[in-house]
Amino acid sequence: MRSAEGAPGTVPCLAAGCRPGFEAEAADDLRRAAAAAGLQPGVAAHPVPGLVVVPCAAPAATAVRAALDRARPVFARNPFVGVGPVALDARDAAGRPDRIAPLLAAIEALPAAVHGTAQRAPYVEHPDTNEGKALSPLARGLGARLDAALAAAGRLRADAPRRLHVFLADGTTAYVGTSAAAATPWPLGIPRIRVARGAPSRSAAKLAEAFVVFLGDAVADVLRPGMRAVDLGAAPGGWTWLLAQKGLRVTAVDNGALRGPAAHDPLVTHLRADGLAYRPRRPVDWLVCDIVERPARIAEVVAGWIADGDARYAIFNLKLPMKKRIEEVARCAGIVEDRLARAGVAHDFALRQLYHDREEVTGCLVRHEGAPRGRHGAAVTRPPARARASRTPAGSPPAARGAGAGTTSRRQRRRAR
Ligand SMILES: C[S@@+](CC[C@H](N)C(=O)[O-])C[C@H]1O[C@@H](n2cnc3c(N)ncnc32)[C@H](O)[C@@H]1O
Repeated sequence: MRSAEGAPGTVPCLAAGCRPGFEAEAADDLRRAAAAAGLQPGVAAHPVPGLVVVPCAAPAATAVRAALDRARPVFARNPFVGVGPVALDARDAAGRPDRIAPLLAAIEALPAAVHGTAQRAPYVEHPDTNEGKALSPLARGLGARLDAALAAAGRLRADAPRRLHVFLADGTTAYVGTSAAAATPWPLGIPRIRVARGAPSRSAAKLAEAFVVFLGDAVADVLRPGMRAVDLGAAPGGWTWLLAQKGLRVTAVDNGALRGPAAHDPLVTHLRADGLAYRPRRPVDWLVCDIVERPARIAEVVAGWIADGDARYAIFNLKLPMKKRIEEVARCAGIVEDRLARAGVAHDFALRQLYHDREEVTGCLVRHEGAPRGRHGAAVTRPPARARASRTPAGSPPAARGAGAGTTSRRQRRRAR
């Protein structure tokens, strides 16, 4: 078989990595993106755990890019459009395995109209499983040799809009394609996070990752010393510790005890209270919430804070059920969007399963800059439809989206609550 894209034995597809066990959810992300791009998605497959592939009609780059942007993936990591499976079982003249030749042939066969004539240096990726991690020495070696061969062919450009991907399903099979480089800033979709030693819980790394993924370069502007934060479900104190490390004053709400440095930090006030009912006397800059509760309940609580102007920025964790996780994520997204739409509050909202997330996803909700705080009396800005429906791309700051126009009255706002 020769595919529409030219590489022998391959078919056009969308492909992505994901957390093992979340293949169905990641496939749903890809199928929605493919459908939105008019690509007639085929039956999704996961050739190995941690890799999803959705065959589709040969794509047009702009349509795919727009679709991935609209149907922003929650579970799929570093989705790309390309071809596969590419067999890496060739031999050179001396009879030694030659994986580079079939990879170069597959890359060469990617149509320029979709993928461009030059791309950023390839990410050579592998599944996030023990078997996949065993491929990382091979991936590194292939990456170096591919870089050299592609550079010699004049195929690499550091500022190209598209990034090359080679995803190794195993040692002899790969999927090859490109992504919009701005949407895939990290190999494997995993940012490097450094959390100082002494963090009171591993979950500090999760919040640190959320800051990088959702806020990108804007983090220094929106997370500043002197800002005020509330941490709902704070104990033992990993998130609180990280916020205090950044110089924020933190009210840590939890009936449980804080442990480690967060317990003695002068910037931290521990409040033993029900985090689902707590509201601050005056608005704060940040709300973070890691309470283990039904996800829909957390979505309601967080959306209420942002709609009422009790916080401007929120990062929160939704613990997913074992079944119907796609439906639950959609339901929570609906709750947030409805609440903010009823309050007429412009916002940016994104949900994503982070690398540090297990059976959960993380949300970032940002009340639009310039939108006065409704619950505390000022006029509320009504967002344009585009802003309401917006999802912030990974790696770009949610706070950077455009402003809305129009106002609602105080009575309307009260009714909306
Ligand atoms: C996953 S832990 C939070 C870990 C924390 N983010 C950290 O970094 O250390 C969940 C916390 O939520 C707290 N919790 C559960 N229900 C709560 C509620 N209704 N109000 C406040 N805290 C609650 C639990 O006591 C527990 O300490």
